[in-house]
Amino acid sequence: MSTTVPTLTTPSLFREQAYLNGAWASASNGATIPVENPATREVIGHVPNLDDATVQSAITAAHAAFPAWSKTLPRERSNLMRKWHSLMLKHAEDLATLLTLEQGKPLSESRTEIAYAASFIEWFAEEGPRIAGEIPTSTKPGQRMLVLRQSVGVAAAITPWNFPSAMVTRKIAPAIAAGCPVLLKPAELTPFSALALAALAEEAGIPKGVFSVLTGDSARIGPAFTGDARIRKLSFTGSTRVGKLLASASADNLKRLSLELGGNAPFIVFNDANLEDAANALMACKFRNAGQTCVCANRVLVEDGVYDKFLSVFAPKVAALKLGSGLEAGVTIGPLITKLAQEKVNRLTSDAEKKGAKRETSASPSAPDLPGYFCAPAIYTDADAKMDMFHEEIFGPIAPLTRFKGEEEAVKLANATPYGLASYVFTNDHKRIWRVAEGLEYGMVGVNEGYVSNPVAPFGGVKESGYGREGSIHGIDEYLEYKYVCLGGIA
Ligand code: SIN
Repeated sequence: MSTTVPTLTTPSLFREQAYLNGAWASASNGATIPVENPATREVIGHVPNLDDATVQSAITAAHAAFPAWSKTLPRERSNLMRKWHSLMLKHAEDLATLLTLEQGKPLSESRTEIAYAASFIEWFAEEGPRIAGEIPTSTKPGQRMLVLRQSVGVAAAITPWNFPSAMVTRKIAPAIAAGCPVLLKPAELTPFSALALAALAEEAGIPKGVFSVLTGDSARIGPAFTGDARIRKLSFTGSTRVGKLLASASADNLKRLSLELGGNAPFIVFNDANLEDAANALMACKFRNAGQTCVCANRVLVEDGVYDKFLSVFAPKVAALKLGSGLEAGVTIGPLITKLAQEKVNRLTSDAEKKGAKRETSASPSAPDLPGYFCAPAIYTDADAKMDMFHEEIFGPIAPLTRFKGEEEAVKLANATPYGLASYVFTNDHKRIWRVAEGLEYGMVGVNEGYVSNPVAPFGGVKESGYGREGSIHGIDEYLEYKYVCLGGIA
């Protein structure tokens, strides 16, 4: 396996060590994990595969940092976070390059992700100083009541590979702003973006033990987090299967959880929709990050009266996508993350073809002539509920179109899944907008909009897509407790 070392303007942002208790560290036994560029399959570098003792000492250090950090004035915490935010913007180009190298998405998307990631640090730096309690009026004479808002304790975060920077800041920024030291376990496949964020946190002056990055094996670090009662909060983004395992493993010490899990987003196009707008929105919604987002359109439901017309507007846009390395100018679709991801997409497309779906694009998704884990974008028509891709998250650049008749059938098809993260509806009927938005069993609904992610909005799902909200004025609540104080004898 050949190796390519990233070329950065600030080379110190590329770290091959974990960041524990304010210091850069290796595993005590020297074990490491290689990290690959999915576009070339070349090794970019290695990170420590931390051993149990080192993980335990990081938890102990975070626990020791809690009293001082939780008592630090929110404004002081905010000032440090603002420095961190400025450093992210200053180094945005290097951060984007690292992100593309380890994750594969086109550089333009990585730049957007870095701005999005930084916006969570900025947003929660602003929200922290607004933490406030309540003074209810008692129903009994002689009493006064206070409701305090206090930091929940040490927090842990486990983040996915599809947004190696933004999913990190969406979790750690509210934790840190709320006074919780946070232990981050980034995805094994994409740890370098998180380590670069730690280098910038160190430069910004975030105190030791307040933010640590633990690299290594999920099978070791996950149970160390869930089993340790000193960690009072765990936030996870990833699959529903792993979310359920973490929830059951956290039951013993009743850790608080935020779970942002799988999706199966419907993208509904009604007869009265503006088809050009809907097709443009679908391009962004479906093909961002090569279809590897939890909020990507997974099922495109198109009303009978515009089905053929919509296909004729959408298909040329898909044909114009350019597959390749994310560092190459003009590339709009990068590789999938691993061979396993590629195999999953191939399994779903073969199953759909066998069950009667028709591929409308010329290139076969499974055969691009490139060295990495590529999958050519494709549209399938005549997709239906018999096919596995109707029920499973595709996580690839495949758009299956399903025909429906009428609003009732659209909502029924859309809700026919255990998932409930994002959904999208395109229509120009203002009454229908209300009915459908209210009827969709999803945490988020885009109406005539294919991109709903925003730091000021509550991101999260219902049903088996998890619980808890990230971003918005509510995101910080996940890291705060209520404490009720009742003062008696006050005549
Ligand atoms: C996700 O895929 O989980 C996050 C996508 C986003 O925030 O836009």
